Amino acid sequence: MSGRVDIHRLSPAPTTGPGDARPAPLTDPELTALYGRADRPHLRMNFVTSVDGAVSVDGYSAGLSGGPDKRVFGLLRMVCDGLLVAAGTLRQEAYRALRLNEARRAWRVGHGLPPYPTLVVVSGSLRLDPAQAAFADAPVRPVVLTHEAADPPPGLTDVADLVRCGTDRVDLTAGLAALRGRGLGQLLCEGGPQLFGALTGADLVDEVCLTVTPLLAGPGPGRITAGGSSALRRLPLRHVLAADDGTLLLRYAR
Ligand SMILES: NC(=O)c1ccc[n+]([C@@H]2O[C@H](COP(=O)([O-])OP(=O)(O)OC[C@H]3O[C@@H](n4cnc5c(N)ncnc54)[C@H](OP(=O)(O)O)[C@@H]3O)[C@@H](O)[C@H]2O)c1
Repeated sequence: MSGRVDIHRLSPAPTTGPGDARPAPLTDPELTALYGRADRPHLRMNFVTSVDGAVSVDGYSAGLSGGPDKRVFGLLRMVCDGLLVAAGTLRQEAYRALRLNEARRAWRVGHGLPPYPTLVVVSGSLRLDPAQAAFADAPVRPVVLTHEAADPPPGLTDVADLVRCGTDRVDLTAGLAALRGRGLGQLLCEGGPQLFGALTGADLVDEVCLTVTPLLAGPGPGRITAGGSSALRRLPLRHVLAADDGTLLLRYAR
């Protein structure tokens, strides 16, 4: 059985112990504090990429995500109010119900939050399967962010709330405001690339958590962002964590 891979903070540089000993690896509470909740409405993106910028291996992100990425991925889910995901990623990655273990539910309740975050799916076509476990088995009724012209498939409104923003395309600015009106102020977005591109274009991205996995994937896969071009925006680096397997965990936020 392989053990947990340690994660250390590189920047801001931690204070070293007596005799310049290497500081102890980060504990889960320390990691959680490094990815804490913001004091205002906030949209955080979370992606994993190869060194050469690939978004997937053979069509899935799993081939890029090792233990350190999964550990932070889980903590980010624990601290959010709503988990935003594009319909493409939900379909391709066969999202299951958004469940957390008992310790993470207890953390949430102890911080005045409901036991589970709410899943929010962004879809223009509403080509969604109400029987997919993400909907059918959800501990909290998911929200589907769509537009006025979209027709839901039979059964979808039995398992999810539709929030319509925009007449014939999803107005993401209005959509995020509607989510905040429902108490979902701290949003985590797990992609995918088309949604990331659209959120960047609408200047809605407050933070990017980026895992760089020490792999070269080659030229086939796309990038973590896709769609039309948008203005350059500066996003300051907030921390650099390194895992003992060579994974980098970067956090950028405005
Ligand atoms: N490396 C990573 O961290 C990571 C993270 C996530 C995904 N991925 C990978 O990304 C790939 C999936 O990418 P994708 O090209 O399908 O992109 P995507 O952004 O996941 O999904 C695109 C679909 O989501 C909906 N959508 C996205 N933006 C929208 C907007 N602004 N308005 C309305 N609907 C919107 C639309 O669904 P409808 O068709 O229903 O209208 C659209 O067809 C998979 O291979 C997955 O493994 C990787």
